[in-house]
Amino acid sequence: PTITFVEANGTPTPVDVPEGWSLMQAATAHGVDGIVGECGGSCACATCHCYVDDLLAALLPPASDNELGMLENVVAERRPHSRLACQIKATAAMAGAVVTLPECQE
Ligand code: FES
Repeated sequence: PTITFVEANGTPTPVDVPEGWSLMQAATAHGVDGIVGECGGSCACATCHCYVDDLLAALLPPASDNELGMLENVVAERRPHSRLACQIKATAAMAGAVVTLPECQE
């Protein structure tokens, strides 16, 4: 699915994310600056913090205890739609989703 990552400064980057890839993998592979992904996707760094849109929020399972714990550690403001991009696996239903990135990750 094509998912658009919007940097904190408003710059959008549409990325064609292969199904099954995490949004962190796809964003870092396409040079999206607002996602760091320091731990490589093992839900241990919180530098892949993002704000999902309503479409994604409706599709995603609730955050695991582990993800919720890491969301306590995000550097930028935590919002109701805060998630970790490495814990979001792309599915076809996510086509057109928009993910907004925070001001900072570390
Ligand atoms: Fe480290 Fe997501 S990449 S928590």
